Amino acid sequence: MRALEEKILSEGRVLEGGVLQVGAFLNQLVDTAFTREMADDIASAFAGDGVTKVLTVETSGIMIAFATAAALGVPMVFAKKNKTSNLDGNLLTAEIHSFTHNNTYTAAVCADYIRPDDKILIVDDFLANGEALRGLIALVRSGGASVAGCAVQIEKGFQRGGDSLRESGVKVYSLAIIDEMSPDGGIVFRHP
Ligand code: G4P
Repeated sequence: MRALEEKILSEGRVLEGGVLQVGAFLNQLVDTAFTREMADDIASAFAGDGVTKVLTVETSGIMIAFATAAALGVPMVFAKKNKTSNLDGNLLTAEIHSFTHNNTYTAAVCADYIRPDDKILIVDDFLANGEALRGLIALVRSGGASVAGCAVQIEKGFQRGGDSLRESGVKVYSLAIIDEMSPDGGIVFRHP
């Protein structure tokens, strides 16, 4: 999505350690009109795929997941990272390791919210090593539901998570794929 690439170039900041800061429009201060445009793009890519729900994991995937679900006219559900008192009964869970933050957490969704006849579109803001998406795919399948695919706003192509998911047969749609970036060398986008 050309408009997202332009936003990343004008408002994003490349930090040391392969981290892209996009809090100015994407995941802290949220450009709501632009989020709807991005969601419409994702919804078009999955129109006709029979999506019944959109799933993400808290926190910063929620905005694009909500907007995408609204564009598709389906509910949005998010996995919680911490088991709290308002999560009880049967749970679908997945252990997710974050290389960026060097921690492991359990993503959990009430089993009633993902049913065997659901076809789930998994949406997140970033795709790096793919651990979050892999965990959510496993969580969906453990509930007997199927995965329509995964969509993200920004894929860090140099971290291979997206390519390895595609190789395993999952439909992965990324609004922008960054193949190279450095604080002083700029950003190189992938164009298929
Ligand atoms: P992976 O799931 O693809 O393997 O990614 P990884 O564990 O490496 O990333 C985990 C977290 O770091 C995710 O947020 C992801 O959104 C975020 N992240 C990864 N790379 C970048 C980056 O370059 N810039 C920014 N801004 N975030 C990045 P999270 O831990 O789930 O946190 P949150 O959603 O609660 O904020």
